[in-house]
Amino acid sequence: MKVISAYSSKGGTTKTTTIANLGGLLVDLGFRILLIDADNTQPSLSSYYPLTHQAPDGLVRLIKSREIVDDLLSHTTIEGLDIVYADDHKKELSSFINDAADGRLRIKRAIQEFQDHCPDKYDFILIDTRGAKGVLVDSALIASDIIFSPIPPDKISATEFHRGTVRRHRSIADSVRFMNMEIGPIFAFLCRVERTRDAQVITEGIRLLSEDVDNIYLLDTEIPHSTAYKSAATSQIPIHRFDRGKYKKIRNGADTMSQLWQEIMDLYRSLNPVAVLPIPGREGSHGK
Ligand SMILES: Nc1ncnc2c1ncn2[C@@H]1O[C@H](COP(=O)(O)OP(=O)(O)OP(=O)(O)O)[C@@H](O)[C@H]1O
Ligand SMILES: [Mg+2]
Repeated sequence: MKVISAYSSKGGTTKTTTIANLGGLLVDLGFRILLIDADNTQPSLSSYYPLTHQAPDGLVRLIKSREIVDDLLSHTTIEGLDIVYADDHKKELSSFINDAADGRLRIKRAIQEFQDHCPDKYDFILIDTRGAKGVLVDSALIASDIIFSPIPPDKISATEFHRGTVRRHRSIADSVRFMNMEIGPIFAFLCRVERTRDAQVITEGIRLLSEDVDNIYLLDTEIPHSTAYKSAATSQIPIHRFDRGKYKKIRNGADTMSQLWQEIMDLYRSLNPVAVLPIPGREGSHGK
């Protein structure tokens, strides 16, 4: 079981869209996937796909009891794709995590315990976070093997990536190192990329700035700006099922998401040559 989270200190960078689409793609590749909506302020992942079974509990119980049990696992219409929805209606989780001695470690502990008891239930856990700093975000990052971070190629997003996202990642990595723990590297990628000269200049700038920064990797895959992503979300289906056409000027969603996933896995393997990665399509998998 590997844990991948979406993170950027700026809002609206396409974290939720990418987590939802990756989840859908991975299920069709034969993996079993659990999504965790850890965005307690705007829980849009929780309603991205319709549910066929709504579990009685969600994120609040996961954090409070440090456990992942059947009562937290809702099923989406995409077979093999489950979700722990965000249900922090009273907005109590941040202060709860702040007050608890092990607050920021709670998602990690819940996942570790779950992995010990049900090692084969899921292949990947994908966690969505809110686009801001916060203890709940920290707690998702601490639990992650890989942290992906989309960057729209505009000046504000590029600056915020280096000033906010990268710095926060470094400061969490420094603080957990004292406990002999490591957090996953950031795999950043450009998203909502338009075919304009301006976007091209900013993209080149981001690539230059990201070279040789410790534990930050800028992927080659770029997600184009395309209305298909919004339309797929409105239709509540993953982009790779929705946008497969070969005739357009803009690269289709199916090819883009496959390339993104391939690059994430290739990079992870090259950084962790001895890591054991989940194998798709094992017995019991819902995949095709
Ligand atoms: N490739 C794309 N091209 C154009 N629009 C996109 C693309 N991907 C996502 N969007 C749109 O961008 C907007 C922001 O996306 P999303 O909600 O996924 O961002 P987010 O990072 O999760 O935001 P927040 O920080 O508020 O949680 C949405 O309206 C979404 O439909
Ligand atoms: Mg979001």
